[in-house]
Amino acid sequence: MTDKDQTTVTSESSAGDGSDALKPSGDALSNLLHEERRFEPPVELATNANVTAAEYDEADADRLAFWAKQAERITWAQPFEEVLDWSEPPFAKWFVGGKLNAAYNCLDRHVAEGRGGRVAFHWIGEPDDDTRTLTYADLKDEVCKAANALVELGVRSGDCIAIYMPMIPETVIAMLACARLGAPHTVIFGGFSADALSSRIQDCDARVVITADGGYRRGAPSALKPPVDEAVSRCPDVRSVLVVRRTGQDDIEWNGERDVWWHDLVDKQSTEHEPEAFDAEHPLYVMYTSGSTGKPKGILHSTGGYLVGTAYTHWAIFDLKPETDVYWCSADIGWVTGHSYIVYGPLANGATSVMYEGTPDTPHKGRWWQIVQDYKVTKFYTAPTAIRTFMKWGAEIPAKHDLSSLQLLGSVGEPINPEAYMWYRKEIGSDRCPVVDTWWQTETGMIMISPLPGVTAGKPGSAMKAIPGISAAVVNDAGEPVERGSGGYLVLTEPWPAMLRTLWGDDERYKETYWSRFPGRYFAGDGAKLDEDGDVWLLGRVDDVMNVSGHRLSTTEIESALVSHPKVAEAAVVGAADNMTGQAVAAFVILRESAGDGGEDVVAELRAHVAKEIGAIAKPKTIMVVPELPKTRSGKIMRRLLRDVAEHRETGDVTTLADSSVMDLIKSNLDEGKTADDD
Ligand code: WTA
Repeated sequence: MTDKDQTTVTSESSAGDGSDALKPSGDALSNLLHEERRFEPPVELATNANVTAAEYDEADADRLAFWAKQAERITWAQPFEEVLDWSEPPFAKWFVGGKLNAAYNCLDRHVAEGRGGRVAFHWIGEPDDDTRTLTYADLKDEVCKAANALVELGVRSGDCIAIYMPMIPETVIAMLACARLGAPHTVIFGGFSADALSSRIQDCDARVVITADGGYRRGAPSALKPPVDEAVSRCPDVRSVLVVRRTGQDDIEWNGERDVWWHDLVDKQSTEHEPEAFDAEHPLYVMYTSGSTGKPKGILHSTGGYLVGTAYTHWAIFDLKPETDVYWCSADIGWVTGHSYIVYGPLANGATSVMYEGTPDTPHKGRWWQIVQDYKVTKFYTAPTAIRTFMKWGAEIPAKHDLSSLQLLGSVGEPINPEAYMWYRKEIGSDRCPVVDTWWQTETGMIMISPLPGVTAGKPGSAMKAIPGISAAVVNDAGEPVERGSGGYLVLTEPWPAMLRTLWGDDERYKETYWSRFPGRYFAGDGAKLDEDGDVWLLGRVDDVMNVSGHRLSTTEIESALVSHPKVAEAAVVGAADNMTGQAVAAFVILRESAGDGGEDVVAELRAHVAKEIGAIAKPKTIMVVPELPKTRSGKIMRRLLRDVAEHRETGDVTTLADSSVMDLIKSNLDEGKTADDD
């Protein structure tokens, strides 16, 4: 059993394209489904669990009443009148008429109720001994100061603010300051390029950018200001760039009219700031994610439903005991997991979290386990790609640390292959801790399918079933539910509180992307299989979205980047199974005649070009220069065949190719060696 069997789903270039899309490569998956590995909840955890089995029944009996009850986790400045308005699907309004302030819910109320001295974050910088502890009271003061500073920069409710930051406390402070003012934030992952940054700033019309001089990665400062300078030079409407001094790099460029140091502006502000209550549907943030066309989609989340959904799931799925737990989610705040399960869910619940700035191997490969030991982490949430990396490094590394504080382990971002699950359970969780495999998306905002650790058994490789209050189904091409033991498409059949409300500025694309394939139901873009018990096994994407180390990348976006290079005539990109990263980007390019054979360094040149256009995470692992691409008669690239090549398999059925000799051409070219692997 390799990763490949779990993550590879063959498909043609369009989503939902026939039954082919649902066949995982090989039959290892079906073997796997017959394996009887099951881990029941540990007795002690089950006895004291936050959630019992009755919760599923309660939610089934009256879903909206269930969510109304969960909404009591939030302090409303004005109570809502209606739980859900679904009169204009697919545009949902949750907790209609309610008013609240997200930052108040994450901070002020904890302080007001006597929890101000509780630690919100144990922050750990990458350099040794660089730590900071922020209590709820500290964090509230900092957020109020930052909110006052933003007001001084002219920010008003409804203005969008771009945040491009390393993993430092000011990132959380900036997000909550925006939320406090009702100014939606858009956090752009620090690994994205200037181009990606400027297109997002323009798309959401941000006038203020918050950044830092840099952050620490792999033992050295990694600069952030230069890409911001480059991006902002193309965004004339950006009037202020607020810069945190983190690394103290001295070669930083400064535009005195636009740039302002955080310590100059924020530190002098008052710690008093009166939070305004906003409508439950007031936008909280926009998060850009790859779709199956080139242009990234701005996923819009609103305030009330999102907070209810993230608070409930964080409490239920991590069995959170806020007084005693030390919780650590290792995601980057630039992704949705960081938003929902480092910032909003945990803070709404008054949890104590660990936040770590750097990479897992700095200064040594046991850094994470050192942190677990030092801070006595009880609940830990990470991604399969990280687990596989630790597997590669060897179990002797975590074994050197005392991990006995751990009680529960979570996984997110891609299907977790059973080997990785078993390794995680055994080597990190010493076979005591349940593993919750949590399926969700940027769009869903909250975890949707997952075991409940005190109720549901875990099966290595399965996310099990929809949590209480959530309705999911696996359907066939015709939209009919599949039988147990069969595969199909994953859909969500009822609206949920933290669902995306639309795509920023594009209601039509929202309807088309998610609600048109199976009318009345939300199509997630994932293939899934039901086992004989009715539990869900995720099979990966069925559209043109790749999942590389748990990060979503669009094939089309990378193809456009390649084609924008003057030497490239045409490009096709596929996600090829990869032992470490789940999928890896494999590109096939046809060069322009004017480029001749492209020159010796053409592959390196193209990889660098993609990094510049999108970001280093999008760099193809392999690029093959080919004379032709396999296409159907209607001109669609047959990615299935390219994936066969990229995964070193015999190519499958070529009968629908317009020109069946193309594959021979590609293969003969490969033999000649015009390809290059990752450096
Ligand atoms: C995949 C990350 C299997 C899936 C929270 C989904 C998963 C996409 C799992 C969303 C899981 C996420 N098992 N697949 N537990 N979690 N995925 O938007 O393909 O970055 O559609 O959100 O990741 O990725 P996104």
